Amino acid sequence: MTERIVHGRYELLSRLGRGGMGTVWLAWDRTLRRSVALKEVVLSPYGEDVAIRRERALREARAAARIRHPAVVDIYDAFLDDGSPWIVMAYIDGASLDRRIERQILSEREIARVGRDVLAGLVAVHSAQVLHRDVKPANIVLDPEDRVFLVDFGIARISGESGLTSQNMLLGTVEFMAPERVDGHAVGPASDLWSLGVTLFCALEGYSPFLREGPIETVRAVGAGRPLRFRRPGPLADAITGLLVTDPGRRMGAAELGRRLDAILAPAPRTPPSRTPPSRRWEEATPRRPRDTPTPARGHDARGPGSTPGSTPGSGPGTARPEAERDDRPLLERPRQEAATLLASMEPRAAGQLMDGMVGSVGSVGVDGASAPAAEVLVAEVLALLPPSRAGRVVDHMAPDRAARLVRAMSPSRGASTLAHTDERVAAAVLGAIGVVPAAVRLVEAMTLRRACRVLEYVPPAVVAELLSATSDGRADRILGGLSRAVRDEITRLTGGA
Ligand SMILES: Nc1ncnc2c1ncn2[C@@H]1O[C@H](COP(=O)(O)OP(=O)(O)O)[C@@H](O)[C@H]1O
Ligand SMILES: [Mg+2]
Repeated sequence: MTERIVHGRYELLSRLGRGGMGTVWLAWDRTLRRSVALKEVVLSPYGEDVAIRRERALREARAAARIRHPAVVDIYDAFLDDGSPWIVMAYIDGASLDRRIERQILSEREIARVGRDVLAGLVAVHSAQVLHRDVKPANIVLDPEDRVFLVDFGIARISGESGLTSQNMLLGTVEFMAPERVDGHAVGPASDLWSLGVTLFCALEGYSPFLREGPIETVRAVGAGRPLRFRRPGPLADAITGLLVTDPGRRMGAAELGRRLDAILAPAPRTPPSRTPPSRRWEEATPRRPRDTPTPARGHDARGPGSTPGSTPGSGPGTARPEAERDDRPLLERPRQEAATLLASMEPRAAGQLMDGMVGSVGSVGVDGASAPAAEVLVAEVLALLPPSRAGRVVDHMAPDRAARLVRAMSPSRGASTLAHTDERVAAAVLGAIGVVPAAVRLVEAMTLRRACRVLEYVPPAVVAELLSATSDGRADRILGGLSRAVRDEITRLTGGA
């Protein structure tokens, strides 16, 4: 690409995205020597007067620049260059939520967290008397730390500012628009919350609830107010149902939504240390603990899983140590069978959380430490010693991305038999977290037909389509035939089939 400098200062490097209003570039700010995102608002010669659209773009910048919130992208500058409006903003090194949900099933918790952050951003937007008006997955960007940023105030309108808005009606993406907006009635903060509801639905269910063949049908679907069918029911689905109420007056408000999302995010009862000491001890002990750290006197509470009759007191190194001290060894430093026995004696939820901690904490350390086997390999070995039904119940309580790493460390048949004993939705989330890669295809191939159908029912149709097209065991058609009509139709639509 030939070098292009805008406004004598911003060197365009690559294109980050393209939407209805123009192109967003990654650029280098030569003055301040930092990366920025530059939005070039492309004004086509057709349609509304160019001057109006130019003014709207600058208004977008002004509206967004007024809002300072961690979940709202920072605007640095706006200017006209060569007749086009440009907006300079903080560059978010990440991916938009729509990309994420195309590729991966997010857990209810992950979605609730995104929802809560977007909601906080929207509350800030609304209290500055601004409406976003185009809340949708493509306008939510997540950075590598999963921080959430609301972008694209392309059609934001400052409430009370008159003029220039008469033709805003169908700007924005119809499938995310609130019914009152589609009908041309007054819009308000509740309309953004509707759009957030549609966004959360997409993230939870993997498809857009009101998207139809064409814009007319889509508009009709938005207005129809038909109840939604959730394949992943639960508290998040309930909150979404509350947001997708046709009458904005009866729609769930920000405060109630915040409470619901917080409840989903409330830490799962993290096994208070006094009641289940082993899990806490292991979590503490897992990071490299100096060998000579004095062991607190714990003899009195040593009757946890570590001292169940099934454990093997005589085996492994350090046999001479007293029972209470041996209990302190991290799970992965114990002989596999002993570790498995301990794991089997724990509550599945506590065991799942423990596995999460081990796969998560060591994984981040072990990426470059190629000499030691990755934590998930060790954990997978331990899990393989449990009956698959037990292992499945442990995986039920793990975060999907960690469970995915664990399952990938197993053979496809072992992975499939473990997933055969998890909740279908968990198996789907794990498959979604693995993504469209050969490992996931092999897992599907190792599943029984029945199980594959039941699990794939909860995987985003786009991912199912790709997984099935990559299978080579000749079952793709039969699996497709075993899916629900809604999912099948979506896959057919995506693959452009008959
Ligand atoms: N500040 C930013 N940092 C990184 N990526 C961005 C930023 N702003 C937008 N993007 C990416 O560009 C895409 C289009 O940007 P957006 O502002 O939504 O433009 P449009 O009005 O054309 O939809 C977004 O979906 C997102 O992927
Ligand atoms: Mg956009």
